[in-house]
Amino acid sequence: MPANPIIHAPLAGVIGMPIAYSQSPRLHGHWLSRYGLAGHYVPIPVMPEHLAEVLRVLPRAGFVGANVTIPHKEAVLTLADTVTDRAALIGAANTLIFRSDGKIHADNTDGYGFIANIRQKAPDWQPDAGPAAVIGAGGAARAVVASLLDSGVKELRISNRTRLRAEQIKAEFGARLVVYDWAQVGNMLEGATTVVNATSLGMKGKQPLRVPMDALSPGTLVTDLVYIPLMTPFLTEAEARGCRIVDGLGMLLHQAAPGFERWFGRRPDVDDEARRIMLE
Ligand code: ATR
Repeated sequence: MPANPIIHAPLAGVIGMPIAYSQSPRLHGHWLSRYGLAGHYVPIPVMPEHLAEVLRVLPRAGFVGANVTIPHKEAVLTLADTVTDRAALIGAANTLIFRSDGKIHADNTDGYGFIANIRQKAPDWQPDAGPAAVIGAGGAARAVVASLLDSGVKELRISNRTRLRAEQIKAEFGARLVVYDWAQVGNMLEGATTVVNATSLGMKGKQPLRVPMDALSPGTLVTDLVYIPLMTPFLTEAEARGCRIVDGLGMLLHQAAPGFERWFGRRPDVDDEARRIMLE
């Protein structure tokens, strides 16, 4: 069934549960007002059992799309009419487009955001300069792995507390992956030129990521998906060892940009002003 044909200011939002603390409405709201665009972006609290029903209704209520977050990122793949290759590969979507013919298109921009953040902060980064090491094997790690492989990383090492999850990622993503035991995570860093914390450790209120970092070479690109705080203990130690560090806030900003452009018609700038908005 076609979406609402009446011309109106486009609506978008972020679907999740809980959703009250999502930063996305602040970011999209900032971009809308900065560029003087008509439109609204709102938090949409949805229980898992209501997701299918809500997705059917939103396009008829003036919504042109939505971001999707926990706990719906996997479930939306089965509800969308079309799914991009990268979303299918990652096994989750974070960006939906409600097309004018009523169809729902699902994409995953997390990996794009991850790479765009590194390229913006470390423009001379070379993904194929040496092995990449990814710590963690959850949903966020899957997007990181997909995007690193896509960027040309030749050897991708991965270690996770629950080894089976890392083995699963290797089984899906293939021969360029090497699984390290959690007890060997320090050894995994030896010779790596890109290192990523894709666990939730180091986040405010959680314990820090404790990894022996003696094997890290100076000049290694080290990045963290955690962005509260911006400087995690992991990044602080990496910086002290002479590594180039990239904090995780930019990934959050960059992953939001493609959706904003599709829904509201303008590519937003990911700059210091956008960063400031998220830190307020
Ligand atoms: P996300 O989608 O944000 O990646 P997730 O799927 O719950 O969330 O994954 C969280 C990641 O942090 C996992 O790699 C998890 O390891 P497990 O797979 O063993 O659970 C990791 N993690 C969380 N708490 C941890 C801890 N105390 N020690 C080591 N790893 C931890």
